[in-house]
Amino acid sequence: MSGAPALAHTRAELAALLAPARAAGERVGFVPTMGALHEGHASLMRTARERVGDGPVVASVFVNPLQFGEGEDLDRYPRTLDADLEICAREGVDVVFAPSVEEMYPGWPERRQPQITLDPGPLAGILEGRSRPGHFRGMLVVVAKLLGLVRPDVAVFGQKDYQQLVLVRQLVADLCLGVEIVGAETVREPDGLALSSRNRFLDADQRAEAVQLHRALREAQENAGYGVDVALDAARTELRLGKSVDVDYLVVTTPELTELPADVPPGTEARILVAARLGSTRLIDNMPLVLGTAEGNH
Ligand code: PAF
Repeated sequence: MSGAPALAHTRAELAALLAPARAAGERVGFVPTMGALHEGHASLMRTARERVGDGPVVASVFVNPLQFGEGEDLDRYPRTLDADLEICAREGVDVVFAPSVEEMYPGWPERRQPQITLDPGPLAGILEGRSRPGHFRGMLVVVAKLLGLVRPDVAVFGQKDYQQLVLVRQLVADLCLGVEIVGAETVREPDGLALSSRNRFLDADQRAEAVQLHRALREAQENAGYGVDVALDAARTELRLGKSVDVDYLVVTTPELTELPADVPPGTEARILVAARLGSTRLIDNMPLVLGTAEGNH
């Protein structure tokens, strides 16, 4: 599929554009984004395309104010719709939904929250949620609304925002939203830095040091056979090499983000997650680990 995607700014336009595909019983794929698209988003679009074949792929471009806290980067978050549309065209996206804030939140700005909102539960209070209170509630509200508007068969989220992915899966399961959620692999720069719309805020020195996040996670992966403590120590050593890397958290959890039991059998799957500030830019990354399979101990 090629050519420019159809652009919908309103819910009515979106519904009209999707009506023929729905009538024909085609599968609909969805990639929600906040724009400032890069190769990471492009790979989500390709995953959506693989999942729906000839059915329409919809991408949304909406910087959701509800998921930004006081003093976060809502105002400086890049808004690059023209460039975004080019990437969508290149990736064969059929429909781009780019609503205004008022379209998504009728009554805005006087009424900042919908009257009915979501309680994201305990998982939203840890890791990212601890540093960014309200972030996951705002994210889940907009994802629920977007899923309601697009009504996709499959929606694709990046594994880079791992806690978001886990929470979206929980949202869909707990509220029986009936959409398949696919977590797509993180796309990285050649040196390993995870692609992020926020990387553009790094100066040259910060960019050079940002790779320590990836190196730290790789070190942890390589040492995971010796157990959680050794893996974490190896990661910390790498992170210390980044002089301007100010670590917010570095943790190993279960893949569901719950606490690991003290003694895990060899072969236990886990996840290592890191968040760090470089100057005023906050970066996150994560990787899977397989714990305790190495011979002997360090
Ligand atoms: O990951 C993002 O870009 C956003 O959190 C999302 C899922 C589009 C919701 O605003």
